Amino acid sequence: MACLPILEYPDSRLRIRAVSVAEVDAETRTLVADMLETMYAAPGIGLAATQVNIHKRILVTDVSDERNEPLCLINPDILSAEGSVSFEEGCLSVPGVFEAVSRAERIVVKALDENGETLEFDAEGLLAICIQHEVDHLEGKLFVDYLSALKRDRLKKKMVKKAKHRTGESDSSRLSAPVI
Ligand code: NI
Repeated sequence: MACLPILEYPDSRLRIRAVSVAEVDAETRTLVADMLETMYAAPGIGLAATQVNIHKRILVTDVSDERNEPLCLINPDILSAEGSVSFEEGCLSVPGVFEAVSRAERIVVKALDENGETLEFDAEGLLAICIQHEVDHLEGKLFVDYLSALKRDRLKKKMVKKAKHRTGESDSSRLSAPVI
């Protein structure tokens, strides 16, 4: 397994729309294992393949407290969504930034697992938020897109400045809310 580098906003590769996985094979499973390792090491509760510069419709998540319930969704499809909930989100591709985003409260998801088996389930709470956040990544969309243009512009300038002055030190504010 390998830990993969994570793209950071405003990297334009985060805007690439991922394509469907035609066949869930050994290569797919290796990528899923690497994505899980990367997510746990970050640490984050979700990661989309887009964030590691692989533009395939694959996401991984683990919203458990014990960090021992990995979930892999390949070609995820949100079949229905209802309700509305606002939650302060962070993102491994936008380190140190936390903003409230409004999303559907409950969703029905259909996807393939890492063995190519079809999954269909209801999700709510943090899992529903996380899946919506990661599916957005696969569409080339980031949580900061939900913010006002002014706020996003300020953030973009801050991120560009930060990238220029990178020290390699980890940002302690990352731990204040789940990073997805
Ligand atoms: Ni994210």
